[in-house]
Amino acid sequence: MSETLLRIAVVGDVHGHWNEADVQWFNNSALDLLLLVGDLAGYRHAGSIKVARSLAQLRLRTVWVPGNHDSAHPLQLLGEMLKNESLIRSFARGQDQRMADIRRAAGGVETGGYSIHTIPEADLAVVAARPHSMGGPRLGFRPYLERAHGVASIEASTQRLKALVAGSQATRLIFLAHNGPTGLGGSRMDPWGCDFRPSQGDFGDPDLAQAIAHARALGKTVLAVVAGHMHRRLKGGGIRTSFLEQDDIVYVNAAEVPRILRNRKEGSERRHHVELRVLGHGCEARDVWVEATGPVGIPDDRH
Ligand SMILES: [Fe+2]
Repeated sequence: MSETLLRIAVVGDVHGHWNEADVQWFNNSALDLLLLVGDLAGYRHAGSIKVARSLAQLRLRTVWVPGNHDSAHPLQLLGEMLKNESLIRSFARGQDQRMADIRRAAGGVETGGYSIHTIPEADLAVVAARPHSMGGPRLGFRPYLERAHGVASIEASTQRLKALVAGSQATRLIFLAHNGPTGLGGSRMDPWGCDFRPSQGDFGDPDLAQAIAHARALGKTVLAVVAGHMHRRLKGGGIRTSFLEQDDIVYVNAAEVPRILRNRKEGSERRHHVELRVLGHGCEARDVWVEATGPVGIPDDRH
């Protein structure tokens, strides 16, 4: 049995299912780091702010990467889904301010996106990949990504991520993204397979896949890739593969939605996260359901 060097919690798409009870539990835990894959709220900006304010109360080091719901106007999100350029452009204008609001509300929590978050004592870095991913081959939220990050295409995003990886001093990397990479299968059951089209297909991020391959080519050890976006519970029934080990990399789709399940009759609830244990060699991941009884919190915003 290899020694555990770090214990990391990964919270999947929150969609409003986060409150003070989570803050208390994580603050009292013996974890070293908390990662959130984004989508703090559903369609209301106020919901994102509320979750971000609560995250600011965490005493545990926390890194999150914005999802497609974070700082998006509902009509902008609709435009992205319909690929309607005029809707996308019109409602992208306020996104800088909305993103600034969320960052401010999140206080000391690190907002990731084309960024490196180092843990020098473990010779490890968290690479926060492209923020606001909609999944698939198309670059979502292009006007905002161009303004905020200078990225206007999937190719530019790939180059940015590759440069980030090459510039990291750490030998061991964990990728944190909203959506996972391409290359893990094109069936609806696969970790980032498409479950909303009859034709199915691989709905991963191609730029992320290339960044992972680049890290390996440079001799880095990619311990894990953690993401969400493609909910575990599939449209049309079934549960997707949420953990996969390939080429010694542990892939985790943490999108257990809703992440809080409650039994009102019994007055109990269960809250989900994934625990990632970084070992001397490699890492292990498993689902954790934290059980609680007593008064249950009501989430403010549903997906
Ligand atoms: Fe999402």
